[in-house]
Amino acid sequence: MTVRHQSTEAELAELRSTYVPRGITSAHPVTVDRAKGSELWDVSGKRYIDFAGGIGVMNVGHSHPRVMKAVQEQLERATHTSFQVVHYESYLRLAQRICEVAPIDGPKKAIFFSTGAEAVENAVKIARAATGRPAVVSFQGAFHGRTLLALSLTGSVQPYKQDFGPYAAEILARGASCPHRSSSCASCGR
Ligand SMILES: Cc1ncc(COP(=O)(O)O)c(C=O)c1O
Repeated sequence: MTVRHQSTEAELAELRSTYVPRGITSAHPVTVDRAKGSELWDVSGKRYIDFAGGIGVMNVGHSHPRVMKAVQEQLERATHTSFQVVHYESYLRLAQRICEVAPIDGPKKAIFFSTGAEAVENAVKIARAATGRPAVVSFQGAFHGRTLLALSLTGSVQPYKQDFGPYAAEILARGASCPHRSSSCASCGR
């Protein structure tokens, strides 16, 4: 069954401001109704070219037939098991393919996460465990995500970090506004 809503842009803007916090911003005041390939349409039927592509993660476009087919086949096979409970072949095959193409010498292994912030946090955990060295260097202006360690690594204070400190320790970054010469400083929060 396809659920169709017939709300206007103004009604949806009202819903958004009533039920969704301001902390999650949308760059454009557009409510998408549907998308196909590199195009999307708002609820009034206006057509846009989607240059953002979910911030670079939709490079095959919306509703690509091979993606739709693979998703449908997987949903019919099993919806979700959590890999930590029982593993499954598609995860193992994807790990194998990524290890085969990753330009890294020697033995490799792959692990998958749901978000970029989760991947960044786990990369730091793995690096710390492997090296025994806790400190991480990040760069001014960098963006690494919205969870606390990823946010600690994020160099841009506005709008991501304001009022959310204290941040994780052992993050070394450089910036002009911080007396400790850090743009994501664990000491002063700037
Ligand atoms: C470079 C970079 N790292 C991390 C993230 C965080 O990803 P997510 O929003 O999926 O947690 C993003 C998201 O835009 C990103 O661009």
